[in-house]
Amino acid sequence: MSAKIIDGEAVATRIREEIKAAVEEMNATHGMRPGLATVIVGDDPASAQYVRMKRNRSKKVGIESFGHELPAQSTQEEVEGLVRRLGDDPKVHGILVQLPLPDHLDEEAVLNTIPLSKDVDGFHPVNIGRLAMKGRKPLFIPCTPAGVITLLEEAGAEFDGAEAVVLGRSNIVGMPAAMLLIHRNATVTVCHSRTKDLPGVCRKADILVAAVGRAKMVKADWVKPGAFVIDVGSNRIDDPSTDKGYRWVGDVDFEEVKEVAGAISPSPGGVGPMTIAGLLLNTLRAAQMTLKS
Ligand code: GUN
Repeated sequence: MSAKIIDGEAVATRIREEIKAAVEEMNATHGMRPGLATVIVGDDPASAQYVRMKRNRSKKVGIESFGHELPAQSTQEEVEGLVRRLGDDPKVHGILVQLPLPDHLDEEAVLNTIPLSKDVDGFHPVNIGRLAMKGRKPLFIPCTPAGVITLLEEAGAEFDGAEAVVLGRSNIVGMPAAMLLIHRNATVTVCHSRTKDLPGVCRKADILVAAVGRAKMVKADWVKPGAFVIDVGSNRIDDPSTDKGYRWVGDVDFEEVKEVAGAISPSPGGVGPMTIAGLLLNTLRAAQMTLKS
């Protein structure tokens, strides 16, 4: 039987419409719009494309977008100085520093300069620390892992007591996704490059989250029949049959795995749109919090 396809674009569209309505109401009632500042250091084309999409989507829901581009050779002081100025700017409610930063920069120190109340990406060390602990609430949750959980909820996954396997231990996806699954009472295994018998570990999963950055790595015989599979991967592969000569695929071999899984989010069209919707939602919340304080 073919799996239920989890349509991330449809879920994200619904969330964006709700955000747009809330932004319009904020503007009508308080004469104010949420503002999101993006900071990109260097000229990595993939990062530039992600930030462009984030800025475009912000504008479409009525969020003000303030773009900042710094050269790759910027110093630690220059990057931190910009983030501090944005932290003091009342029109900016959320600050996103696109990662990774160039190697010579201290990423943790840069993220530490973002005020907690503007940390809409959820990567400030304090927010991540709270996420890693029981009973401590982060102010904001990282957008991609939050999108993973929302899609699993949409698909009707049971978390309590489920065996969850996360492929990949990145700070941006794998680690925080594992923590969110633990908070929902799943039993979580995090796999990485040293894991022995990856297919065997994955086959035990009721919930499988793939975030390793390896095109079509997860095959049908890695997946437990009926499992919920979320594909976070986004890999460019050569394809001479397309106009551009390439196309995007996930970490999961979608065509194979959809015949075994109970539900599967495709890539593209799954988690990707959810990441941006989560960022917009966090920015709206950050702006709403300034009205309450
Ligand atoms: N690089 C890849 N994904 C992300 C993300 O969600 N936020 C930031 N800041 N950088 C990223």
